[in-house]
Amino acid sequence: MSNAWTTKDIPSQAGKRIIVTGANSGIGWHAALELARAGGNVTIASRNMTKAEDAARRIREIVRNADVRTGQFDLSDPQSVAAFAERELRGHPIEARTAPIAEDAAASHALFYELERITSLRYEF
Ligand SMILES: NC(=O)c1ccc[n+]([C@@H]2O[C@H](COP(=O)([O-])OP(=O)(O)OC[C@H]3O[C@@H](n4cnc5c(N)ncnc54)[C@H](OP(=O)(O)O)[C@@H]3O)[C@@H](O)[C@H]2O)c1
Repeated sequence: MSNAWTTKDIPSQAGKRIIVTGANSGIGWHAALELARAGGNVTIASRNMTKAEDAARRIREIVRNADVRTGQFDLSDPQSVAAFAERELRGHPIEARTAPIAEDAAASHALFYELERITSLRYEF
């Protein structure tokens, strides 16, 4: 019998607010799906709201009563990220974990430092 980790090992995410970037498709979408399945309040943060709404719909088709919403921002545009942070994060304590998004956004480390400054978040990547 295998002891390999599976998504069934994800602990309950109930009561957690989770923002997933790059969640229109691929790894981000699957992360959003599994975090919603685990009971998290998941926001799909995307530059394209048509794609974001479609991604949320596809999650709701799989996870009944999924607590999933969408928010708009473009990771390559610090002003867009700042506006997103203002709308979504003010007053909400948050931990940030990022990894592959810098590549997607063609962002440099310098941009991430700027995002840290704008959003007052500590990114780990
Ligand atoms: N470290 C590893 O072992 C490993 C393994 C596999 C993949 N990766 C990396 O993980 C990342 C995701 O892979 P994937 O296969 O899931 O890719 P994908 O399906 O192409 O997903 C990329 C996502 O990022 C979004 N995105 C791109 N630029 C953006 C921007 N400026 N603002 C907001 N969202 C933006 C895309 O949105 P749109 O739909 O609007 O384009 C899409 O939702 C890639 O960077 C890949 O290289 C790493």
